[in-house]
Amino acid sequence: MLRLSLAFIVPLVVVLGVLGVLSMQVSGPLLQGWTQRELDERAGLVSKALHGAIMLSLEEGNQSELSQQIESLTEDERLYAIAVCTSPNAVLAASRNYPAELACAEGRDATTRVGPAMARWLSQMHVRRIDLPVAPAAGGGLVSDAAPDGGHVTLVVMQNPAEAGRRDQQARNYLTMLFVGLGVVLALLFITVANWGWRHWINGVRRVLSDGGQAAALGRASPEIQPLLPDLRRLLRSVHEDRRILKDTTIEWRPETLKLLLREHLSGDEVIVVSNREPYIHQRNEDGTIRVQRPASGLVTAVEPVMRACSGTWVAHGSGSADADVVDARSRVRVPPIPEGGEPLHDAYTLRRVWLSAEEERGYYYGFANEGLWPLCHIAHVRPVFREEDWQQYRAVNARFADAVADEARTDNPVVLVQDYHFALLPRMLRARLPRATIITFWHIPWPNPESFGICPWAREILEGMLGSTILGFHTPYHCQNFMATVDRFLEARITQEDQSVSFMGQRTQVRDYPISIPWHPPADDALSRAQADQSALREAMGLSPEHRLAIGVDRLDYTKGIVERMLAVERLLDRHPMWLGRFSLVQIAAPTRSSLEAYSALDHRVREEARRINAWAAERAPGTPPPIILLIEQHDSESVRRHYRACEIAMVTSLHDGMNLVAKEYVAARETGDGVLILSRFAGAASELHEALVVNPYHIEETADALAKALTMHPAEQRERMRAMRTRLADFNIYRWAGRMLLDAADERQRARVQDRIVQVSGVVAPEGLFRAPWRARQAANGGSPAAAERGKRAHKV
Ligand code: F6P
Repeated sequence: MLRLSLAFIVPLVVVLGVLGVLSMQVSGPLLQGWTQRELDERAGLVSKALHGAIMLSLEEGNQSELSQQIESLTEDERLYAIAVCTSPNAVLAASRNYPAELACAEGRDATTRVGPAMARWLSQMHVRRIDLPVAPAAGGGLVSDAAPDGGHVTLVVMQNPAEAGRRDQQARNYLTMLFVGLGVVLALLFITVANWGWRHWINGVRRVLSDGGQAAALGRASPEIQPLLPDLRRLLRSVHEDRRILKDTTIEWRPETLKLLLREHLSGDEVIVVSNREPYIHQRNEDGTIRVQRPASGLVTAVEPVMRACSGTWVAHGSGSADADVVDARSRVRVPPIPEGGEPLHDAYTLRRVWLSAEEERGYYYGFANEGLWPLCHIAHVRPVFREEDWQQYRAVNARFADAVADEARTDNPVVLVQDYHFALLPRMLRARLPRATIITFWHIPWPNPESFGICPWAREILEGMLGSTILGFHTPYHCQNFMATVDRFLEARITQEDQSVSFMGQRTQVRDYPISIPWHPPADDALSRAQADQSALREAMGLSPEHRLAIGVDRLDYTKGIVERMLAVERLLDRHPMWLGRFSLVQIAAPTRSSLEAYSALDHRVREEARRINAWAAERAPGTPPPIILLIEQHDSESVRRHYRACEIAMVTSLHDGMNLVAKEYVAARETGDGVLILSRFAGAASELHEALVVNPYHIEETADALAKALTMHPAEQRERMRAMRTRLADFNIYRWAGRMLLDAADERQRARVQDRIVQVSGVVAPEGLFRAPWRARQAANGGSPAAAERGKRAHKV
C-alpha cells in the first residue's frame, strides 16, 4: 500500500515542483511585458480621445472643454493624472491631481522643479509622454509661441502603478493556478497510464495462467512477461499435475503417490519433521540387550509413512534408556532399525535425537504441554495448570529444537513439518533462523474457543509463535474457525476469511483443515482365514468360549478418552439386558502414559477400581462367568493391536474430546472381512467423517449402552453396509492424502514465493497477494479438500 501511495505521490510532487519553478521563471517577464503593453495602449487611447479637444482648445483659445474631458478621463482609477503642455514650461490643461510645478519638464529639470521627494514618487509612476502634432494654423498664439511652424503639443499620461501591480499579481496568481492545474492533470495522466500499464502486465500474466500457458507456449505472450515465462510454465505444470492427480478419482493414494508428488512438486527439497515423541525408542533390557519400542502415538502412526516416503530427517526428543548408545557423534541414527542379518531398507530416514535434562522434561513436557495446554485444549473438565517455571522451560526447549532443526537443514529453505502442541513457539523461532523455510505446523489436538484459550497467561505469545508458520493445519474446519476467532480476539492481525489466512508481522499463514488418517492397504487375500484365526486365538488365550462376544477399546490411559464412561456403559447394558451377562466382554487395552502426573495416576486408580467393581457386580449376578471388563493396562505393539481389532466385532471409541482419534480409523481399516460395528463419540474429530458408525454422546451412559445393545444385535448385512461406506472413505482419505494435501499446499506456496520473487526482480513491484492463490482454490474445488468439504460440496450440488 505504501509503495502504491508513493508511486502516486512522488510523480505528483515532482511534476508540481517542476511546473512551480517553470511558472516562476516564465511568468515574471511575461507579465511585465503584458502590463507594459497595456499601459502603453491605454496612454495611446487617451491621446486619441483628447486629440480633438486639444486641437479645438488651441484653435479657440479656450481650455474648459479640454479640462472637462481630462477630468472625466481621470475618473478611471487606472489613470492617475493627465496634462497637456505646449512647451516644457507651459501647461495648456491638466487634471486636478497633476503636480502643477512640474509642467512638462523631464529628467534633471523635473527634479529641480518638484524637489527630490516628489521626484522619487514620480519615478514610481508610469509616465508616458506623447507628442501630438498640431496644424500651423491652429492655435493662434498659443502653439506658435512654442512652435511657430505648427509643431506639436506634449501629452503627459500618468498611470497608477499600484493598480497595475495589483492586476499584475492577479494575473500571476491565475497563471500559477493554471500551472498547478496542468500539473495535477499531468500527474493523474501519468498515474492512469502507469496503472493501466501495471494492469495490462498483470492481465498478461493472468492470461498466461488462465489459458493454461497456451499463449506462452506459442510465443504470443507479451514481451514484458517474457522474463517470467520459465517460472510461470513451471507453476502451471505443477498446478496441472496437481489437478490431474486430484481430479482422478480412481487414483490410489499410496506411498508411491506421495513419493511421486514429492519428486514432481518439491523436487530436491529437503523435508524435516519435528515432534516431541520419537518414532523409534531404544530401551535397555535388564539383561543389557537393547530392544526397539514403537510408541503408542497417533502422531507417530500418521507421520512415519510420510517420512519413509521422502527419506528426510526427523528431529525428536531422545527419551529411551538406550537412545544415546545407538546414535552417531551428531546424535543421529538411521531408522527403521534393520533386523539382524536383514537388508538395508530403501525407505530409511534419519532420526536426530535432542537430549533433555529431567528438569527440562518436567517443565516443558509434563508441565506446560501436558498440565497446561493439553487440558486447556480438551474439554474434559480437568483444570489446566500454568506455572511460570514450566513456561520458561517450554520456551527454552522450543529454542533448543529450533537450533537442532537449523543445524540439520542442508539448505536455507527446507520444508519443516512441526508437530503438535509441544512446539507452539517453534515456528516463529524457526522463521528467525531459516527465513525462507516453508513451515507447516500441524496441531493434533482440538483448538478451543477464544474464551477457553484466554485462560492461558501466555495466550498471545503462543499465537505469535504459531503464526510463524506458512501453513497451519487442524483436523476439522471447526478447530480452524476457533483458531481464527482466537487470533481475532488477542492479536492485531489481518484475517482473510475468503482464503482462510492470517497476516501477522509480515508473515502470511494459511489456516487449513487436514483431517489426519491412517495408511491404507487393500484387503489381504487371506483376510477371512486370518480374522477367524485371530478370533479363536484371542478367545482361547482369555479362556472364553468361541461364541463369546467381544468389544475392543484401545487408548492411552488418558482422561480425555472416556474409558470410565465406556465401562459404565457396559455395566448399564448388562443391567438392562442381563442376557449378555457372561456372554459379552469389553477388552480394554490402556497404554500407560504421563503417569507421573497426578491427573493420570488418579485416572489409573479410578479405571482399575471401576473395572474391579463392575466385574464383582457381574460376578454376583452370574457367578462363574467371564468378567465383562478385561482390563489390560500395558503397551501393545501395532501388530498385537491389529490382531485385537480383527478378533473383536465391536470397537468402542468414547473420547470425551479428541482432535481426530485414529483408533476409530484403524479399527475400520483392520476389518478386512467387512463386518464389525464402530461405536464412536460425537466429540472425536473422526465423527465428522465416519457417519456410518453408531455415534454417541459418551457422557450419556444410557445412550452408549443402547448403542452397545444395537451393535450386539445388528444384522450382518447392515454391518457390512455401514463398514463398506466407512472403508471406502478411508481408502480415499488415507494418510498419504493427508500428507499429500499439506505438501501440495506447501509446494504451491513455494512456487508462489518464487514467482513473486521473480516479479519483484523484474519489475521491482510486489504482486498483489491474491494473484497466485487460484491454484489452491481450483484444487480445493477439484478435490473436495477434506471429506467434510467433499460432503458439503455434494450437499450443495444436490440443493
Ligand atoms: O493426540 C495428540 C498426540 O500428540 C498423539 O499423537 C499422541 O498419542 C499424544 O498426543 C501424545 O502422547 P505422548 O505424550 O505420550 O507423546
